[in-house]
Amino acid sequence: MKDWIKFFFEHEGLTQKGHCQRNEDLNLGMGWLYYALVRLIRPKRVVVIGSWRGFSPLVFGKGIEDNIEDGEVLFIDPSMVDDFWIDNVRVGEYFNELGVDCIRHYLMTTQQFVETEKYRSLDCVNLLFVDGYHSEEQAQFDYEAFEHLIPPTGAALFHDSIEQKTTPIYGYDRVYRRGVKLFIDRLKTRTDLQVLDLPFAKGLTLVRRGKDADG
Ligand SMILES: C[S@@+](CC[C@H](N)C(=O)[O-])C[C@H]1O[C@@H](n2cnc3c(N)ncnc32)[C@H](O)[C@@H]1O
Repeated sequence: MKDWIKFFFEHEGLTQKGHCQRNEDLNLGMGWLYYALVRLIRPKRVVVIGSWRGFSPLVFGKGIEDNIEDGEVLFIDPSMVDDFWIDNVRVGEYFNELGVDCIRHYLMTTQQFVETEKYRSLDCVNLLFVDGYHSEEQAQFDYEAFEHLIPPTGAALFHDSIEQKTTPIYGYDRVYRRGVKLFIDRLKTRTDLQVLDLPFAKGLTLVRRGKDADG
């Protein structure tokens, strides 16, 4: 694992964007949690919505490949920040170079993904990672698109979930205020869910069905 992290961190961008990574001691930060959940749950499927340079899909994918069970990461990202995810062949080579072959990238928004045959065929999503457009409405859409597919042993994770600062990530003409926390605050009022905030960087929140949930 140490050798993989060393090689992983040599790739520009994989130590950035708030997952509490630290190159000096080859520390994956929040990535340990992503990896641990995959080793524990042994998911058939992880859905990741949004990523800067692939940190989260790659760490989930590495966990799946270290399990003996088959599994896949569906990675939904329309490449709205820059052109990093545009070229399908290059994206495949990038994941392949990092030793992770179980990631399927969908160059589209979640709104477009829910119209696909792949979405209609999904029978379960063991882990959902929401890190796309950080408005309250989009976080809600991303969660509700998959909530019914997450089993009681699964979970949803929301990145950048505890602060509401403005961000120019989509350009200075498209500055917006992160609103994921507002959606999380609404989830906390539901008695069928357990919601746990981890106050590191801009936050990570874990949501799972609790004791009042049906089924
Ligand atoms: C860069 S990541 C978030 C990085 C970081 N956590 C931050 O501080 O914002 C956000 C990604 O979400 C993607 N994205 C934006 N809108 C989306 C949508 N509607 N559906 C899926 N992905 C989306 C963007 O293309 C972008 O790559």
